[in-house]
Amino acid sequence: MTSKKLKASITGVHGYVPDYILTNRELETLVDTTDEWIVTRTGIKERRILKGDMKGTSILGVECVKGLLNKTDTDPKEIDLIICATVTPDMLFPSTSNLIADRVGASNSYGFDISAACSGFIYALATGSQFIEAGTHKKVIVVGADKMSSIIDYEERKNCVLFGDGGGAVLLEPSEDENGIQDYLLKSDGSGGDMLCLKAGGSLKPASIETIKNKEHYIYQEGSSVFKFAVTNMADISEEIMNNNNLSSDDVAYLVPHQANKRIIDATAKRMGIGPEKVLLNIEKYGNTTAGTIPLCLWDFENKFKKGDNLILAAFGGGFTWGSLYLKWSYNN
Ligand code: ACO
Repeated sequence: MTSKKLKASITGVHGYVPDYILTNRELETLVDTTDEWIVTRTGIKERRILKGDMKGTSILGVECVKGLLNKTDTDPKEIDLIICATVTPDMLFPSTSNLIADRVGASNSYGFDISAACSGFIYALATGSQFIEAGTHKKVIVVGADKMSSIIDYEERKNCVLFGDGGGAVLLEPSEDENGIQDYLLKSDGSGGDMLCLKAGGSLKPASIETIKNKEHYIYQEGSSVFKFAVTNMADISEEIMNNNNLSSDDVAYLVPHQANKRIIDATAKRMGIGPEKVLLNIEKYGNTTAGTIPLCLWDFENKFKKGDNLILAAFGGGFTWGSLYLKWSYNN
């Protein structure tokens, strides 16, 4: 007799964005840009900013996890593990997941961060699912959150229009049926690392007067090169996971894409052969929140999902990293 493999299901999702809305109109007053340029090139109309001193990504994570625990009626002490995907941790160490665990009262959990930029949530979800599938963990929380405003130069037009702050969290538990995470593909290519990075502040180039003068603590991105890699790889990997699982475009209920640029998302949907009604978009409201985009999208559109729906998650980001994940949604609202 063959034993069925245990699957990990998402049994709840909650998102959080800060109150402050940075509109394209306000950006017009900060840099040489226009609402029209931003909307046509990216699809973004506004993004949220976490204002105030001494407020890091853990604040976003704590809000997401508190909301998630409340919504799923889960005692924080039951949580076994918290994984936080972020490239804007409160500090290089301790991990942001540790800070979140402490502040939500998850005193029986341990945690660690995952750094895979915009693919971070998919990497973390795939990682978290392993602990459930192994049968060793019963409740795992996966957070994707970034305070991108902490690494953005608001005097330089190329990047400041793209990014925002926000995050989301999901609860993973053993599936009671065939639903849950079915498959995933994760890829990386370090040769693209220099095209999208934070040059200073790590062990290679610790902070100095020079690095500050050279603005090397802000995100560096060769936008049009990254764009080309993103279009090809996000489309390729989404098609590959469909082929690996014998999914036709009719079988796919929704594409949940990383929200970096609407044009990248459109190219991915085209390759998958799915129409716009199946593509979940909230980029216009939040911009690119890096590890936050996919869980924020799941949260925004949770009411659309029905038990058994086939969802494809897909992302591309700094590293380079990219990935796709196929899951069957596990509950009705
Ligand atoms: N407003 C007005 N003009 C601008 C702006 C702006 N905000 N930004 C750039 N421009 C100008 C450029 O200076 C350039 O002018 P020039 O021709 O006189 O030099 C012109 O617009 C075209 O610039 P491009 O960079 O070629 O514009 P493109 O159409 O490629 O769009 C963008 C730029 C939106 C950044 C696009 O390249 C992109 O989306 N890249 C990928 C972003 C991404 O997905 N990153 C990965 C995830 S991020 C992560 O992992 C953290």
